[in-house]
Amino acid sequence: MRIYCEKDYNAMSRRAAAVIAAQVVSKPDCVLGLATGSTPIGAYKQLIEWNKQGDLSFAEVRSVNLDEYYGLAPDHDQSYRYFMQTNLFDHVDIAVENTNVPSGLAADPAAECARYEQVVADLGYADLQLLGLGRNGHIGFNEPCADFPAATHLVDLTQSTIEANARFFASADDVPKQALTMGIGTIMKARKILVVASGADKADAVWKAFSGPITPEVPASILQLHPDVTLVGDESALAKLMEDKA
Ligand code: GLP
Repeated sequence: MRIYCEKDYNAMSRRAAAVIAAQVVSKPDCVLGLATGSTPIGAYKQLIEWNKQGDLSFAEVRSVNLDEYYGLAPDHDQSYRYFMQTNLFDHVDIAVENTNVPSGLAADPAAECARYEQVVADLGYADLQLLGLGRNGHIGFNEPCADFPAATHLVDLTQSTIEANARFFASADDVPKQALTMGIGTIMKARKILVVASGADKADAVWKAFSGPITPEVPASILQLHPDVTLVGDESALAKLMEDKA
C-alpha cells in the first residue's frame, strides 16, 4: 500500500488528481470508478483544469460510479448523477453515454442492481476505483453490517450516514433512507484503488480501515486485502494512522 500524507486539502486534492491523471494518461480508454461526497471535489476541480489546459483528455474514458440514492431523479440536485454532471462531467470532454451511475428511480431496484453489476462486469471492472470514506468506515454505501456484500445491492442507510449527509438536504427527514451501491466484491475487482480522506473527523475511520482488524463492521478494512491501494490524505485525516505506524 502506498500512502501520501499531504499537508492540507488542496495538496491532497492535487495528489489524488495526479494519481487519476496517471491512470488516464497510461490507458486513455480506461474504466474509471468514480465517487461522490465532498472529499473528491478538489481532485475533480484539478482534473477539469488539466482538461481545459489540454493536458488531459477523457474522450475515451468510460466511468462507473459507486452508488446512487434510491428515490432521487437524475436531475435532483442531491442525486449522485447530478453531482457528477456538475462537479466533473459537464466540464470535461467525457462522453455522457460513456458514464454510468445506478438509476435512483428504478421501479424494481433488485433488477436495476443486477443490470448495473452487469454493466460494470461488461466493462471489465474499474482500472482505478476512487473511494471516499464514510465516518463509520463505509465505502460506496456499504454500511457496517454482518458480512461483506458481494454485488451491487440496495441498502438501508444507517442513522449516522443519514445525519452526516443531512447537511446537503433541507433536513435529515429529506435524506433518502436507501441507496443502490456497488458491493464490496464489485469494488475489490478494481485493479487499483485510490482512497481519499480529509479532515480530523475521518482520522478514526482511516485508522480502523488500515490498521484495525478486517471486519464487515468497518467495510473499508477489506481494502487491506487488495493488492494495489493508494491512500491520499491530509495530515489531520492521517494523524492517527501515521502515529500508529511511527
Ligand atoms: C457518501 C458516499 C460515499 C462517500 C461518503 C463520505 O456516503 N456514498 O461514497 O465516501 O459520503 O463523504 P464526504 O467525502 O463528504 O465525507
